[in-house]
Amino acid sequence: MCGIVGYVGKNQAAPILLEGLEKLEYRGYDSAGIAVRNGEDDTVIVKAMGRLKKLANKTDQGKAVKGTCGIGHTRWATHGEPSELNAHPHCSDDMNVVGVHNGIIENFQELRQKLAHHDYHFYSDTDTEVAIKLIDYYYKKYAGTPVDAINHALVRIRGSYALAVMFKEYPGEIYVARKDNPMILGKSDAGVFLGSDVPAILKYTRRVYYIGNMELGRLTSEGITFYNLDGDEIKKEETEIEWDAESADKCGYAHFMMKEIHEQPKAITETMKQYFDGSKVDFSTLEKNGAIEEAGGEKINAVLKGLERIYIVACGSAYHAGVVGKNVIEGMTDVPVEVDLASEFRYCDPKLMKNSIVVVISQSGETADSLAAMRLAHDRGIPTLAIVNVFGSTIAREADYVMYTCAGPEIAVATTKAYSAQLITLYLLAIKIGELTGTLDDDRIKELMTALEQIPNSIEKILDDKERIQWFAAKYASAQDVFFIGRGIDYAIGLEGSLKMKEISYIHSEAYAAGELKHGTISLIEKDTLVIGIMTQPDLFEKTRSNMVEVKSRGAYLFGLTTYGNYSVEDTVDFAVYVPRTLECFAASLAIIPLQLLGYYLAVAKGEDVDKPRNLAKSVTVE
Ligand code: M6R
Repeated sequence: MCGIVGYVGKNQAAPILLEGLEKLEYRGYDSAGIAVRNGEDDTVIVKAMGRLKKLANKTDQGKAVKGTCGIGHTRWATHGEPSELNAHPHCSDDMNVVGVHNGIIENFQELRQKLAHHDYHFYSDTDTEVAIKLIDYYYKKYAGTPVDAINHALVRIRGSYALAVMFKEYPGEIYVARKDNPMILGKSDAGVFLGSDVPAILKYTRRVYYIGNMELGRLTSEGITFYNLDGDEIKKEETEIEWDAESADKCGYAHFMMKEIHEQPKAITETMKQYFDGSKVDFSTLEKNGAIEEAGGEKINAVLKGLERIYIVACGSAYHAGVVGKNVIEGMTDVPVEVDLASEFRYCDPKLMKNSIVVVISQSGETADSLAAMRLAHDRGIPTLAIVNVFGSTIAREADYVMYTCAGPEIAVATTKAYSAQLITLYLLAIKIGELTGTLDDDRIKELMTALEQIPNSIEKILDDKERIQWFAAKYASAQDVFFIGRGIDYAIGLEGSLKMKEISYIHSEAYAAGELKHGTISLIEKDTLVIGIMTQPDLFEKTRSNMVEVKSRGAYLFGLTTYGNYSVEDTVDFAVYVPRTLECFAASLAIIPLQLLGYYLAVAKGEDVDKPRNLAKSVTVE
């Protein structure tokens, strides 16, 4: 989705803006632009289609655009095709107001008509141009301050936005506002920064402020003043970001995805450390309503103890983690779990049971559907627990309880380390519910925790043997259709393995519950169709193996993924991959690693843009 940046301070703005935009490239975009002010002089706007490099070349790496106050944008087209005209920043006809926007203004047609009646003309197809001209309209109509003008406009705008705006009569100032779209503000001795996401500003500062929904900010080189919708000043706490600048760099890896695959042992260790006291799962540091609960986890423990049902809602890979979570929680407790895609849940009028909890899983904490699903749960009085990676994100701030996954910034669009950290968090949740509801005794908890602690080491071992997967990927890079099959947790692993493959290598792949093959899919199997069978669950091993034999007899080429010890698989499959043994309930954490590597190496072999696959955005902040 779109990314916005801004800077006002002692230094030249354009190079800082370009650098910030580069850090937001992972969000996905089709065009980019910057607007820079040089004191009282007119604002310079430069835009370019395609990669940021073009914008950098057009501005001589930013050196050709002078000024110490500016805003920038990477656009992921929603209203209007990708084009230079539709690229941001947008401006009013007399350049009185210039701005960038992330989000969707739902009533932009109606507002456009209103403005047309007041002699406004439009050069683009974007909702953003309408928003900027609406602000200009109110600024002139009431002759008030920029804050007044923006507030008037926000009252009329329906939809979501993160807006950054500059006014001709206020040089050296940037005004920002947000609703349901991410924005972070940072401060250092060199000035004030804004970005859609932490990586955009991390190089310059770790002292940040989170601006709330329907709030405004005025940025000057001295600092930030916040306002509510009435225009009254409000106070905000400064927060220190714990991520370091290196965590948003490739550190010698060819792609962020490979770096993040290798960071999984650390992400798991850090996440576990937070909720494990050495012998038991400890929720005393779990956040309640944005702060560590004073009662040391008593409230969440009380909710979990009385649970009659759990609803897990999420999108994409986070949903796949949820499918694993369902299997694990139901295996360790007597609580039934329902897993829903957030985009379905929010519109299906879900019948939520009284003693239940809605668990929302999201790396970014900004996914529009997941956020809407969580708000629906709130409206119905059901407690919500968010499993989130990005500190201070909207979902984290609005959830009743938050468990942070400590994966650090994830830049590659294809998630790896955040998914792995989500799995660990769900295991810890399952163990805690099992402890509280009495289905797990101390010995079993000890056994589970010991197995969990070994997972990072086992992942290291799998990564040590990655060249074998690389070799296989090079051989199969021309595959057209790939099928993943498995049962139970193995099916859930297949869902994620298949997504990893298709989203970055563009090879069509599907995951099927192995027992479903005979109900249609098997007709797609031809000579040499690649079928990846996942067989980590002892009770289901033979069942899935016989499904593999069925497809082999129809010509399929078999890739078998199982745990060390199941060597009988060699009689069936053409290519066997083994992962270290672990308790079967935790097998997803190991079996997913070769599949992440496979997706990665296929994309590399095909020469695809691994970290920024076409049409995809890292954080999906629109429906
Ligand atoms: O930020 P979220 O976890 O809410 O994102 C959900 C999905 O958009 C995300 O998992 C997506 O499927 C990934 N690109 C998959 O690798």
